[in-house]
Amino acid sequence: FVIHDEHMIGKDLAKAEFGFILRLFFRIGCERHRNVVHGRILHQSSVCRELWGKNASNRSGSIVSPHVHNVKRFRCRILRKCALFCRKSAKSSHLFRHNRAKLECFVSYDTISREWPEIKKERFKYVELGRNKTLMMIFFNSSLRTRLSTQKAAINLGMNVMVLDINQGAWKLETERGVIMDGDKPEHILEAIPVMGCYCDIIGVRSFARFEDRDFDYQETIINQFIQYSGRPVFSMEAATRHPLQSFADLITIEEYKKTARPKVVMTWAPHPRPLPQAVPNSFAEWMNATDYEFVITHPEGYELDPKFVGNARVEYDQMKAFEGADFIYAKNWAAYTGDNYGQILSTDRNWTVGDRQMAVTNNAYFMHCLPVRRNMIVTDDVIESPQSIVIPEAANREISATVVLKRLLENLP
Ligand code: CP
Repeated sequence: FVIHDEHMIGKDLAKAEFGFILRLFFRIGCERHRNVVHGRILHQSSVCRELWGKNASNRSGSIVSPHVHNVKRFRCRILRKCALFCRKSAKSSHLFRHNRAKLECFVSYDTISREWPEIKKERFKYVELGRNKTLMMIFFNSSLRTRLSTQKAAINLGMNVMVLDINQGAWKLETERGVIMDGDKPEHILEAIPVMGCYCDIIGVRSFARFEDRDFDYQETIINQFIQYSGRPVFSMEAATRHPLQSFADLITIEEYKKTARPKVVMTWAPHPRPLPQAVPNSFAEWMNATDYEFVITHPEGYELDPKFVGNARVEYDQMKAFEGADFIYAKNWAAYTGDNYGQILSTDRNWTVGDRQMAVTNNAYFMHCLPVRRNMIVTDDVIESPQSIVIPEAANREISATVVLKRLLENLP
């Protein structure tokens, strides 16, 4: 990654036709100077106000010995690399005078568009890159695609892989500080995380929104703790507010199937019996806003997403009107975001289920969904089985997006 600080971002993005920040979560720091490197894909106009890490705390002393020495060595090497790059490219060594600098991992759209076709053509090309390196995948929630595609990506790169399901076989983890641990959780996440970091080189984390407290979810409390305390590069395998590996695969899929330079892409809410997080629609909206596609979001009133993700999208409450002339339909359910309704189901109206009626007004649109999908709630059997359904190639591209991301992380290991 090219590492940026807040001052550099504006200047450097201005040079790029599209500014994309790859939202991986990559933390560095040393004992007193906890510098945070986050990454994500964002349109240039959003970059400065979207910086992460504002709420990252500066608690020290949680990295336990004997790992602490390795962590310090690792961090210092990374810091030196960052400082070198920053001095070379933007005279921004002042960055390291701050106790807690915020850094972003920046890649241009051009870089991404060159990389994924290369990986797709020859996915074992970098098989030597991960030799003797270990990926640890940590799941707080279930997964099929993310688990398999990320593991396959690591295999493509010659890595060893360890998978830990926190809720199946691991100790139950306490996540709050200050809790008297006399309940059913025998281990605290603040010890568990640095221990996990001892056994691997890169960590992937899946941790969904809990819907108990919007601030807890939208501050990405869980993944930020991994970023702070693991001493390893950390990437999201779907966190509370974003699912970047999915959105990257979605973008690759649209690029592969689009018939015009500027397709009309419509993201539609559809009904679901359980409340689902906003991570997938948030990320998809964020990535679509970073392209020059025509992007429309349609949902019933009350399902408005966080405006920072909606960005410049047109919001249309009439689903049929939104679908007119669309080239891609991206269906997804999400629970309410706004106010006291956070995490609630406000509608199960099956008129919003994507069927032949809606698809008929599109420009013979392709149907997309991140999967898993509930048939005849989100989409009818006929539509998902139609030749225009590209949900399987979309899922296949998860291997490609994960390979590109892991390759970049490996390239930047000390
Ligand atoms: N789309 C996706 O992330 O699928 P899984 O939840 O099965 O990983």
